[in-house]
Amino acid sequence: MKNTSSSDAHQPACGCCGARDAAPPPRRGFFASAAAVVLGAAALAGPVAVGLVAFLNPLRQKKQAGKLVRVATLDALPADGTPRKFPVIADRTDAWTLYKDVPIGSVFLRLVEPNRVEALSVVCPHAGCFIAYDAAARDFVCPCHAAHFDLDGRRTDQDSKSPRDMDSLPGVEIRGAEIWVQYETFRTGIAEKVVQS
Ligand code: FES
Repeated sequence: MKNTSSSDAHQPACGCCGARDAAPPPRRGFFASAAAVVLGAAALAGPVAVGLVAFLNPLRQKKQAGKLVRVATLDALPADGTPRKFPVIADRTDAWTLYKDVPIGSVFLRLVEPNRVEALSVVCPHAGCFIAYDAAARDFVCPCHAAHFDLDGRRTDQDSKSPRDMDSLPGVEIRGAEIWVQYETFRTGIAEKVVQS
């Protein structure tokens, strides 16, 4: 007579030959599945945590301030190349708080060709005062220490207090009749032009 174990006795038998399924014991399958779930979750936890921190990091959000911003329209600029000062309105992140559509700075825009615009930062490279445009002299002047710059932003005095020329903003795009600028600020007091934010 054939010897049948108690676990085999619970397996369904084939109707024609009486053979029983050789499936693994259910308890072992459960532990294997649970271990796979735990290991999978552990493998995903690291990358997810890193991604979350990167997404919430205020420094990352501040960098987004460097994206292109609509500043003015072409018809707002004099055809003779006279510069005009415009505020830059964009979102600003302060630590963990996002402020929508607030002034984040100003730029001088100047039409240098019919469809080409030059943008200069209004911030003096010496100590950060705001540069003004002197319409009578047709140049830029810093009111703090009297540094002068020509319309292209180059220093015009031999003993200028400014360690470099005015900072140009290279990210300028003409989209139809609109002027878009990538607004950036630069470190002051040094000869090199180094992006600050
Ligand atoms: S801050 Fe402009 S010359 Fe000193």
